[in-house]
Amino acid sequence: MAPMLQGPVIYVCITCKRQGSEDSTLDNEPRPGAQLAAATDCAAAETEVTVRRLRCLANCARGPSAAMRCNGSWTYLFGGLDTADAEALVAGARLLATAKDGILPWRGRPEILKRGLIARLPPLDFEEADL
Ligand code: FES
Repeated sequence: MAPMLQGPVIYVCITCKRQGSEDSTLDNEPRPGAQLAAATDCAAAETEVTVRRLRCLANCARGPSAAMRCNGSWTYLFGGLDTADAEALVAGARLLATAKDGILPWRGRPEILKRGLIARLPPLDFEEADL
């Protein structure tokens, strides 16, 4: 079993193709998702952000895809990403880690994490206060 993480984690789908393409990648080239994972690894170097690779976040039609969360936070899923968005992913994960309410702030959020937001999911123990 993997050790419990305290800092933010970015999960990058390595099997994502480019949005709207049948298969824009040659067989001997890494898929766009794998390229995004590599770029995110580089962007996260020397930070507290952990980058994990996985196969499929069920957002295939709107990939490349990545998700982020940290302990007690909401989980955010993004799509339509590119290697150029790796720094934004790391900046967003670090911003999420500072959010006392576990919600990624709109102010200061990198633009791609506004445009590319697919969904957010609450933490396990979340209950809406006024319902
Ligand atoms: S292949 Fe990347 S989300 Fe499904």
